[in-house]
Amino acid sequence: MAADLSAAEGVDRLAAAARQFGANVLINNAGIGGFGLLEEQGWGEVERILTTNLAVPVRLTQALLPSLRAQPAAVVVNIGSAFGSIPFAGFAAYSAAKAGLRAFSQGLRRELADTGVRIVHVAPRAIDTALNSRAVRQLNAELGNASDAPEAVAGVVIAAIEDECAERVVGQPERLFAWLNGCAPALVDRGLRGKLSTIKRHAGDRTIAAAGLSQS
Ligand SMILES: NC(=O)c1ccc[n+]([C@@H]2O[C@H](COP(=O)([O-])OP(=O)(O)OC[C@H]3O[C@@H](n4cnc5c(N)ncnc54)[C@H](OP(=O)(O)O)[C@@H]3O)[C@@H](O)[C@H]2O)c1
Repeated sequence: MAADLSAAEGVDRLAAAARQFGANVLINNAGIGGFGLLEEQGWGEVERILTTNLAVPVRLTQALLPSLRAQPAAVVVNIGSAFGSIPFAGFAAYSAAKAGLRAFSQGLRRELADTGVRIVHVAPRAIDTALNSRAVRQLNAELGNASDAPEAVAGVVIAAIEDECAERVVGQPERLFAWLNGCAPALVDRGLRGKLSTIKRHAGDRTIAAAGLSQS
């Protein structure tokens, strides 16, 4: 079924259909990108980024929790992002939403430790999908950021469910940087400082393109 999850009515309709179906797997995959400098993003855009990537999965999980708990075994998979562990310039709101989703996954996993509901968090790096605008694809190419095929990431998600794994960060060096950012964020600050002018240039392209001033 199709539903706009940014509206409470959409979440309720989807949750009702999932309950009726007897769903025991919830994959919170819906998300939107958020490339741009915070100062240049309108509040409406920032709010959409935070709502779609964080509030919606929290809300849908909460709506389905009673029926998931009633199943002999159930799993919730939250699709986060490497930016949730390695927050990036040009993606401040998106990184905040995905870091929030990671914390939500960990908190709820601990809350449900005495139930049959498992909470899995998968953090992909860039994926070749329509989520990434031309400016983001160009930025990734210039920075040498690897981008995975959607099928490969789907395989990681299925493996995480089957292997009863709680957390997966997709790719190296992203796994290493996620760990490093957790214990020495100042080192990552310094490493990313050198990429700032490139990020700003591509964020500028994004602003110009959004204004319809430059589309060749
Ligand atoms: N692409 C990347 O580089 C990347 C990297 C790391 C993590 N991720 C995460 O991976 C997940 C999947 O993204 P993707 O790369 O596959 O992007 P995508 O191809 O753009 O897919 C995003 C999906 O979310 C749905 N969606 C967005 N807003 C919605 C709403 N309000 N209600 C219902 N559905 C909504 C879209 O539905 P419609 O098509 O109907 O709009 C679309 O099916 C997201 O959570 C994203 O943050 C992506």
